[in-house]
Amino acid sequence: MRTIRFLTAGESHGRALTGVLEGIPSGLPLCSDDIDRELKRRQTGYGRGGRMKIESDRVEILSGVRWGRTIGSPITLVIENKDWQNWHEAMSVDKQYNGCIEPVTRPRPGHADLAGALKYGVHDIRNILERSSARETAMRVALGAVCRRFLLEFDITVGSYVTSIGSVSINPQAKDLMSLFKKAEASPVRCPDREASKRMIELIDRALKEGDSLGGVFEVFALGVPPGLGSHIQWDRRLDGRLSQALMSIQAIKGVEVGLGFKMAERFGSEVMDEISYRHAEKSFSRKGNNAGGIEGGMTNGMPVIIRAAMKPIPTLKRPLKSVDIITKKSVRAAYERSDVCAVPAASVIGEAMMCLVLADAFLEKFGGDSIKETKQNYKSYLKSLRGF
Ligand SMILES: Cc1cc2nc3c(=O)[nH]c(=O)nc-3n(C[C@H](O)[C@H](O)[C@H](O)COP(=O)(O)O)c2cc1C
Repeated sequence: MRTIRFLTAGESHGRALTGVLEGIPSGLPLCSDDIDRELKRRQTGYGRGGRMKIESDRVEILSGVRWGRTIGSPITLVIENKDWQNWHEAMSVDKQYNGCIEPVTRPRPGHADLAGALKYGVHDIRNILERSSARETAMRVALGAVCRRFLLEFDITVGSYVTSIGSVSINPQAKDLMSLFKKAEASPVRCPDREASKRMIELIDRALKEGDSLGGVFEVFALGVPPGLGSHIQWDRRLDGRLSQALMSIQAIKGVEVGLGFKMAERFGSEVMDEISYRHAEKSFSRKGNNAGGIEGGMTNGMPVIIRAAMKPIPTLKRPLKSVDIITKKSVRAAYERSDVCAVPAASVIGEAMMCLVLADAFLEKFGGDSIKETKQNYKSYLKSLRGF
């Protein structure tokens, strides 16, 4: 990240999650409702564990906003963990261990437990799992909501929908991404197809009954993105690379594709390149299709940006897999702690947040501006230059 920087902090059962976002220009209207709305979206979705019933996330804005507008300084956000009252002893920052909680010693295959314990030299896996947990993504969604609010000033919208859960999948043929998004918003599994949603729910019920878990695939898109964000000139400026890293950084995401992605590799070049035409009336270039997912040469090309991510199944299983106790070295079953069965719908909302963070960064890199007014002037002049190209 260049223009926009952010950090998150906080443990899953600690007092709170904290985030600091720097680089948002001054004058952007912002209130906690803009953020709470997104936090709520992250918390919904069929297949989540008991925690979602305890937590109803709300943000507090601690800095960077005055009288409903950003002032250009770092924006600090806090989300309190409502569960803290049950954990304040177990997660105490005081020196003394008072025996109030047993150490976690049975690493879960597929989680950060064993690798983290070895790396950080700890014999209580809680020190690892508290931070590797996807609870952290609540703050990413909050920070992403600020960037979403910024992008809205430039008529850029970001959405997502789920295309598969386990073996149930859809292949959305519809070109209208916004209508897929709206349908997904009404589905408990964020899938735009009603029939497939039902089958996904049945599959989740089956996994729940059998003490198992599921993963899946979701697509994130951005509409209204101008051509020219990102660049071909250096590896780390390529927007496809930056978006892929951002999506891949979400816990349990194991694959990312841009546009047609892996399927492109199976076809002839003539079948997958998006042919170029010119609309004289609008003085703009256009494409018949969008197999490129809106990015060519690491730059946006003016078409919708589309990125797809694959999430592996949740590693914590009610019917735990074989593991080894890190103290006794004896063969045991892995630890179980209240867990989601499927979190693909939530992951798609987190994917949107990451897309917003990356796009806001790339947008400010291209158009600059310390105030929204200045960014808008720069943007307007670029759009004018495109029409006269
Ligand atoms: C929204 C979301 C919710 C998750 N919920 C759980 C959960 O309840 N239990 C669990 O074991 N893993 C859960 N995960 C996945 C783990 O956080 C992830 O698998 C773990 O951190 C190991 O990282 P890795 O899978 O990227 O290697 C969740 C992931 C996401 C994105």
